[in-house]
Amino acid sequence: MVNIRKAAMIGCGFVGSSSAFALMQSGIFSEMVMIDVNREKAEGEAMDIAHGLPFARPIRLYAGTYDDIVDAAIIIITAGANQKPDETRLDLIHKNVEIYKTIIPEIAKRNCEGMLLIVSNPVDILTYTALKLSGFPEDRVLGSGTVLDTARLKYLIGEHLKVDNRSVHAFIIGEHGDSELAAWSNANVSGVRLDAFCEMRGHYFHEESEDKIYEEVKNSAYEIIQRKQATYYGIAMAVKRICECIIRNEQSILPVSSMMHGIYGMEDVVISMPAIVGKDGVEAVVPIELDEEEQEQLKKSATLLKELNTMIKT
Ligand code: NAD
Ligand code: LAC
Repeated sequence: MVNIRKAAMIGCGFVGSSSAFALMQSGIFSEMVMIDVNREKAEGEAMDIAHGLPFARPIRLYAGTYDDIVDAAIIIITAGANQKPDETRLDLIHKNVEIYKTIIPEIAKRNCEGMLLIVSNPVDILTYTALKLSGFPEDRVLGSGTVLDTARLKYLIGEHLKVDNRSVHAFIIGEHGDSELAAWSNANVSGVRLDAFCEMRGHYFHEESEDKIYEEVKNSAYEIIQRKQATYYGIAMAVKRICECIIRNEQSILPVSSMMHGIYGMEDVVISMPAIVGKDGVEAVVPIELDEEEQEQLKKSATLLKELNTMIKT
C-alpha cells in the first residue's frame, strides 16, 4: 500500500539534501526517509533539516534503509557522482549506471508501488536505465529532464523582457544536456508571440537574443559548477514542483523525461518533452508544434541518447 504523503530520498549530497529541504518547507509530505551509502551523511542531513521543523509543517524526517521505502509514493534518486568543472553530464554515465545497478534492484525486490523520480545525471540515460532495471511500468518512472533548464529559460526571458517569468511560456526540450534545444517557435508571453512581445518591450534583434539566452541556459550548470562546484537550489525547486504535481494530481505540463512512443518519430528513448504530470505520473506527452529546424535538433538529441542507451548493459 502506498502512503501518498511519503517520500524517499536516495542520495543525500548537495542535490538530495537541498531537495529534501525544499520538500520539507513545501508541506507536501508528512514522512520522508533519507538514504545514502554514507549513512552518517543521511543522518546529519535529516537532523539538520528536522531542526527547522518548528518553523514549518510537521513531517517525520529520518535516515533509514531500503526497508523504509516500500510504501513511499515517490522515490527520488539523486545518488551518484556530480560533474567536475571539466566534465559534461555524459561523462558520468559509467560511474552512475554502476551506482544505479546497486540501487534499483534494492527498490525492485521490495515490490514498491510508488513512482521513481530520477535526478542523477545523465538524467535521461539513468531514467532509461532505472526503467529497464526496475521492470516498473513506464508511467511510474520519470526523470526531472529539462524542468530545470526550462526554469532557467523562463527566468532569463523574464529578466530580458522585464516581465514576470511565470507569464513566460517556453520550453527547453530534448536531452538534459548539451544537445538540448529551445522550442522558440512556440514561445509566448501570455499568448503574445515572443517576437511581438519583444518588440513591445523595445527589443528587435530576435535571433541574436535567442542565441544568447539559449547559450546561457545550456551553459548554466558549467558556469555554476566552475564557481561553486555543484548546482542544487534550482534543481531542488524543480524536484519540489514535480512532486507537488504528482501528489496534488495537478495535471500541470512539465518537460519531464519519459519514454517516447512515436512523437516526432522518437521511439524507445527517454527524453524531455512537455507532458501532463499528475497522480499517475506522465499522463500524456504533449506534441507542441516545432518548426523544421527544431524537429531536426530534437531528432539529433534523441539519436544521441538512443545510441548511448544501446551501449549500456542493464
Ligand atoms: P554529491 O556528491 O553531493 O552527492 C551524491 C550523493 O550520492 C553522496 O552523498 C553519495 O554518498 C551518494 N551516493 C553515492 N552512491 C550511492 C549509493 N549507491 N547509494 C546511495 N547513495 C549514494 O552530488 P550532488 O551534487 O548532490 O549531485 C548528485 C547528482 O545529481 C549528480 O549526478 C548530478 O550531476 C545530478 N544533478 C542533476 C540535476 C538535474 O537537473 N537533473 C541538477 C543538479 C545535479
Ligand atoms: C544542472 C545539472 C548539473 O544544474 O544537471 O543542470
